[in-house]
Amino acid sequence: MGVAIIVAEKKKSVFKTENVLHIFPTCVWRVQLEPEVARAVNQRLRTVLDGMRRAEPQFPLDEPWQSRQDLHLHPDFQELVGHVHDAVENALAYLKVADCTFQFTGGWANMGPPGAAHKLHSHANNFLSCVYYVSAEKGANTINFHDPRLQNQVVIPVVTERTVENAETVNMNVEEGMLLLFPSWLPHSVDPNESSALRISVSFNIMFSQFAETMAQPNW
Ligand SMILES: [Fe+2]
Repeated sequence: MGVAIIVAEKKKSVFKTENVLHIFPTCVWRVQLEPEVARAVNQRLRTVLDGMRRAEPQFPLDEPWQSRQDLHLHPDFQELVGHVHDAVENALAYLKVADCTFQFTGGWANMGPPGAAHKLHSHANNFLSCVYYVSAEKGANTINFHDPRLQNQVVIPVVTERTVENAETVNMNVEEGMLLLFPSWLPHSVDPNESSALRISVSFNIMFSQFAETMAQPNW
């Protein structure tokens, strides 16, 4: 017969100090463009992407659409690429990564009509990945990040409150003009678009130049 261990009411502590140390944290950088900058960028990209999509008549407008994967080289995306470049530099500085060159290995847009979702995935052979929101109405304004530590899901206790420390999935709210930058190995997914509008996002992959050129080509 097992012995129940009852957690007693907290007595006078004999602990001199009691700290929780967060080791091996997973960083997600959340960057919000200035409203007037975001408005101008988004207005332009909506027009450009609508044109790209309509130029591919085999894609019905009520179906999810993904652009070609070299938008990081496209002239109309250079302003956004510049902002992402700055955010990547800040993230690498935060991580104390030694001075080294990096490059965009891919850039693409997703246009998701009502009902469109994106299954769980990650971006192999890159160091950082990001998503920028051009249009994200309420009901289409979240992304899910999933705990990649499978061992952490061997025992899942009942909790009194969901926190980032005990969650297996973090459902993050996003908004237009927001850029999320995260490690490329971090699995993520997107719930079905429950708004009545198109969700438009632009994603980029980033890798250290020397690694991309000499070690491995990006794997989509
Ligand atoms: Fe992704």
